[in-house]
Amino acid sequence: MKNLITINTRTPGPVIERDVYGHFSEHLGRCIYGGLWVGPDSDIPNINGYRKDVVEALKKMGIPNLRWPGGCFADEYHWKDGIGPKEERKRMVNTHWGGVVEDNTFGTHEFMDLCELLDCKAYVCGNVGSGSIQEMQEWVEYITCPGDTPMARLRAKNGRKEPWKLPYFGVGNENWGCGGNMKPEYYADLYRRYQTYVRKYGPDKIFKIAGGPNVADYRWTEVLMREAGPLMDGLSLHNYCFEERWENKKSATDFDRTGWFKTLRNAYRMDELIAEHSKIMDRYDPDKRVALVVDEWGCWHEAEPGTNPGFLYQQNTVRDALVAGITLNIFNNRADRVRIANLAQLANVLQSPILTEGAKMVLTPTWHVLEMYKGHQGAKLLSTAVCTDFYYEENGMVSGLAERGGLPIGTGIPALNASASVSDSGAYTVTLCNADPEESKSVSLRFDGLASLPKTITARCLEGADMNSMNTFEDPDRVQARAFALPAAKGNELALELPARSVLAITLG
Ligand code: AHR
Repeated sequence: MKNLITINTRTPGPVIERDVYGHFSEHLGRCIYGGLWVGPDSDIPNINGYRKDVVEALKKMGIPNLRWPGGCFADEYHWKDGIGPKEERKRMVNTHWGGVVEDNTFGTHEFMDLCELLDCKAYVCGNVGSGSIQEMQEWVEYITCPGDTPMARLRAKNGRKEPWKLPYFGVGNENWGCGGNMKPEYYADLYRRYQTYVRKYGPDKIFKIAGGPNVADYRWTEVLMREAGPLMDGLSLHNYCFEERWENKKSATDFDRTGWFKTLRNAYRMDELIAEHSKIMDRYDPDKRVALVVDEWGCWHEAEPGTNPGFLYQQNTVRDALVAGITLNIFNNRADRVRIANLAQLANVLQSPILTEGAKMVLTPTWHVLEMYKGHQGAKLLSTAVCTDFYYEENGMVSGLAERGGLPIGTGIPALNASASVSDSGAYTVTLCNADPEESKSVSLRFDGLASLPKTITARCLEGADMNSMNTFEDPDRVQARAFALPAAKGNELALELPARSVLAITLG
C-alpha cells in the first residue's frame, strides 16, 4: 500500500509553543549533581559550576524552559535551606530518591542563574504537600520582587540585587500521590488558597499551573476544572511510557519485537489522554484559556543493572527516539490545548537527552530527535491526514486511515506518524516516524494548497541498525541524525522511502 500524508498548507492552525519542548531537572540521582552541576572547583570544565559540555549541548538542542526542583522532591523541599553560604546550608534526606543526603548546594540562585545562562524560562514547582503558604509566598517574593522588601533584601544579601524572571510557577506536584495523597476536592481548595499568594511583584504576570491528574484520572480533571478552573493558567498532566506497566518495568536495552511494539503502543496512548482530558477542559473552558501542561512525560524503564534503583538511571535506544518523535508529533497536533510540556528528565534520569559519567558526556537518540524537531518551535501547526499501514505485534500489516495518530482499529498502531508546521518566515518543517521495526515505507507527502514546493529542501534521518541501537560512552556517535537524500519533488508532492525504525525531519524553504 502507498502511505499518503496530506499536509494542509491553506489554513495554518495554532502556534506550536516553544515551551512544548521543555525539560525537567529534579534533585534525583545524578540529574543535577554530576549531570548539570559539578561546582566551580571541579576538574570537569565548567562555567561557574555548570558543566560546559552539557550547557553547550542544551543550547544546541534548544531548551525553552526548565522545571525544577521536582517532581516528588518539590513537596518536601524548603527553599530557604538552599540559599546563603554553601557551607551553612541545611542538609536533608532525599526520601523519595535513594535516601541520600541532599546538601542543598544547588538552590534557588544556582537554578535561576542556570536558566539565564541557557536563556530559557524558569518553571519552579512549589511545595504544597509539606510547605506553608507563607513559604511559597516568600519564595515568589525572593525570586521576583524588585522593591525594598524583606525577601528582596535577603536576595541582595546573598549576592543578587536584581530580581529574576519567573514565568511559570507550579502549585505542588502529584498531589494525588507523593505530593500529599490528597483527594481532588481537598487539593482544589488548597490550590485556590495557595495560588492566591503567588503574587505579581514585578512587571510580569506569573503563569500558575495547578497540580493535575495522573494518566487517565478524569475525575481529578473534572473536579479541578469545576472548582478552580478560573484561578489557573495551566493544569498539569503526567504520563510515562512503560513497556508493560508501572509495577512491571522492563529493560531499557534488552527487548524483542514485542517489547518494541508494546512500548510504542503505549506512546500512542498520549493522544487519547490529551483528547479525553481536553474534552473535560472544553466544557469548563471552551475558549481554551487554560493550557494542558504535560510536565512529566517519557519512557520509564528498569534502572540500568548495577546502578542505584532509586536514581532511575537508564540507557536510551532508537525505541526511545521513536517514543520521543511520536509524542512530540502528538503534542504538535494538539497545540490548541498542549502549550507546555517537559520531558523527564534532563540528564541521567529516565528518558534523558544527555548521559554523563565523570567527565564524559553522551548525547542520546532522544537528544537528536529534540534537535531535529527544533523547526516546529514557535511555528504554526499545519494539519496532516495520515493514510498508513498499521503495524501489529504479530506479523502482518493492514492498511487504514490514522487520524492524528489515534488508534482507530484493533490493537495495532499506525506505522507512520507525522506533524507539520510553517514558520513566520515561511519555512515548512515536517517530521515523520516509522514505527515498523522491520519494513521501510514508501511515503508520498502531498502539500495541499501549494502548486510547487520550495527550491531548498533538506532532510535528516535518525535510524537504528537494530531496535536497541544506542550511544554509549565507548561508542558515542552510533545513532545520529544524518543527511537524507530526497528524490526531486513532482509538483506539490515528495515521494520517499522511509527506513524501518526511523525518525525523519524535512525542512522546505
Ligand atoms: O520523574 C520522576 C518522578 O515521577 C517525579 O518525581 C514524580 O513527579 C513522578 O512520579
